[in-house]
Amino acid sequence: MAFETILVEIEEGIATITLNRRDVLNALNSQVFTELAEAAENLAVDDSVRAVIITGGDKVFAAGADIKQMALLGAVDVAIGLRPSKIAFERLENMPKPVIAAINGYALGGGCELTLAADVRVAADNAQFGLPEIKLGILPGGGGTQRLPRLIGAGKAKELIFTGDLINAEEALRVGLVNKVVPADQVLAEAKKMAKKFVSRGAVALSLAKACINEGQRMDLEMGLEYEHKCFSLLFATEDQKEGMKAFVEKRKPNFQGK
Ligand code: COA
Repeated sequence: MAFETILVEIEEGIATITLNRRDVLNALNSQVFTELAEAAENLAVDDSVRAVIITGGDKVFAAGADIKQMALLGAVDVAIGLRPSKIAFERLENMPKPVIAAINGYALGGGCELTLAADVRVAADNAQFGLPEIKLGILPGGGGTQRLPRLIGAGKAKELIFTGDLINAEEALRVGLVNKVVPADQVLAEAKKMAKKFVSRGAVALSLAKACINEGQRMDLEMGLEYEHKCFSLLFATEDQKEGMKAFVEKRKPNFQGK
């Protein structure tokens, strides 16, 4: 996959998307969003890919949407021109494979929102998170007002969004914004380690578990439990379920085929 503002590399079933606008701290312009949306669409249906990592490289994740580009936009331009950001985030969020954000340095505004579209977040001890849009006279429009409160609760999300203040990795871990904090030079390795563990599990079970959690957030508890029961039942029609339970009985590791 050849893109200009992102790099996509696939190795041992794990695709790594690297944001590639280093000179502007990976500021996310409309081209990045369009390319991210296309990459996510391709990776979702690529059978050789079992997990996706998204990173900004070893210095910075992303310092937000491109303010210089946004400064020139009117409401209609945003409604049309920034639509790919919504599409990109939703494709990553709904991809039937695990998506891990590997975060070094700043993850601000749209950068922070991009990490929220991932399933799990691994952060460097030097990472900084924030939704500073309020300081620009706007609000977090890449899912921040929706995904952040669902992840860390409305109270803390409101504090971050209303103040625009940044928090460090330790605080992000404490409030549940990130899953893990590791030394800065180990972020990508840790994300790959996590991805490999996900890949070693039954891919059908994992994708349905992801669907249950994501879809469940759009349902009331009763409907969510019903949806879960249907997905659970469906798994008993898979080879992976037979293999997983047979392996347990035979006291060996399962060899899942994702079928
Ligand atoms: N949009 C466009 N360009 C950005 C950017 C953004 N969100 N964030 C950084 N850049 C650019 C800077 O304009 C600068 O480019 P220049 O060298 O051509 O002037 C370059 O990236 C380096 O940024 P700089 O501000 O010099 O780095 P710093 O280390 O002093 O500060 C930040 C880093 C992240 C604190 C600062 O860049 C910042 O506040 N960025 C905006 C954060 C934000 O409000 N994000 C939400 C957007 S909705």
